[in-house]
Amino acid sequence: MSANAVSTPNVAIVGATGAVGQEFLRVLAERKFPIGKLVPLASARSAGKRVNFQGANYTVEELTDDSFKGIDLALFSAGGGISKQFAPIAAQAGAVVVDNSSAFRMTDGVPLVVPEVNPEAIDGWRLGRRSADGSAGIIANPNCSTIIMLVAVTPLHRAAGVERIVVSTYQAASGAGAAAMLELESQTRQVLAGDPPTCDVFPCQYAFNLFSHNSAIESNGYNTEEMKMVRETHKIWGQSDGEGSAKRVGITATCIRVPVMRAHAESINLTLRNPLDAAEAERLLRNAPGVSVINDNDNNRFPMPLDASGNDDVLVGRIRADISRNGGPGGGLDLFVCGDQLRKGAALNAVQIAEMLI
Ligand SMILES: NC(=O)c1ccc[n+]([C@@H]2O[C@H](COP(=O)([O-])OP(=O)(O)OC[C@H]3O[C@@H](n4cnc5c(N)ncnc54)[C@H](OP(=O)(O)O)[C@@H]3O)[C@@H](O)[C@H]2O)c1
Repeated sequence: MSANAVSTPNVAIVGATGAVGQEFLRVLAERKFPIGKLVPLASARSAGKRVNFQGANYTVEELTDDSFKGIDLALFSAGGGISKQFAPIAAQAGAVVVDNSSAFRMTDGVPLVVPEVNPEAIDGWRLGRRSADGSAGIIANPNCSTIIMLVAVTPLHRAAGVERIVVSTYQAASGAGAAAMLELESQTRQVLAGDPPTCDVFPCQYAFNLFSHNSAIESNGYNTEEMKMVRETHKIWGQSDGEGSAKRVGITATCIRVPVMRAHAESINLTLRNPLDAAEAERLLRNAPGVSVINDNDNNRFPMPLDASGNDDVLVGRIRADISRNGGPGGGLDLFVCGDQLRKGAALNAVQIAEMLI
């Protein structure tokens, strides 16, 4: 490995016109991420458009094989196909890639990182570093529902050992990109006007409705979003032993798309190895990085997607002992969490990773 420290990196944003790409620009500016040159990239459709960063306009360039010359950090959010094709080119050109797609998440040797959970996965990684094959390397950002769940659950796992997770998600339009957000808005107007809704992004009516997550169903009956939560959690928690290993947390997920514009919610039931009552769980969560607790039983006030929208923290509430367990050996806990998946579930998590590379 060779490493020349880079303190003011040249940064490319692949997918700069998209929902995550736009959030990248906001998060980089808010966090005063040091940037030498900024290069916004998208498809030929958007070449020549302007994006705003810190009050200045930048012209979007078409993504090509030559886009990464002189780039130190490449933040990718343009879909798995684009990442598969261009992330290795960027890495070979000397840019550390932080990829938001699912293309490399389960690839051996590619760290899958939530900074509050497994920062050690990128120990030794730095901008300017190249491995023996000349590549600066690829780091994967986990699936948004996985990140939000693990920021909330990992502090409890460290304290009491989570043996099983039953999770149901309530996923917002923003998780499916800018076009899905527009579709929810336009369908809402159409339905209120008594017109038939136009379904371009999703195959069925989205406004005033909900449906099983729009990802493909795998041979075991789970959709790929649900299986991402299972497989990625095992990798992030370092439980990558064989299928069915007793050392792995058991996870069953049901992922649902709901007509919320932005921020995902999740209902989470945990089986714990060791006892942990609700008060101690709340205390742990109040001290956990990246977590805010909203757990006001007196006023029935708990996390909502509107609270989470634009918020960096994962919000946790409804913290209670699972009464179905009758005080078994470890016991169980129930939680309800909300997180802005464009921020912590995507852009913010990736920028936090980038900050660790300087
Ligand atoms: N939305 C989320 O909450 C979320 C969370 C985690 C991960 N992700 C992942 O992030 C990626 C982007 O998601 P998004 O929600 O931001 O989608 P989006 O709003 O649809 O944006 C897609 C972006 O990709 C660009 N793009 C499409 N085709 C391209 C091509 N051939 N060459 C270069 N750029 C191209 C688009 O540019 P044009 O303007 O030129 O079309 C646009 O900038 C996906 O892989 C998604 O799975 C999304």
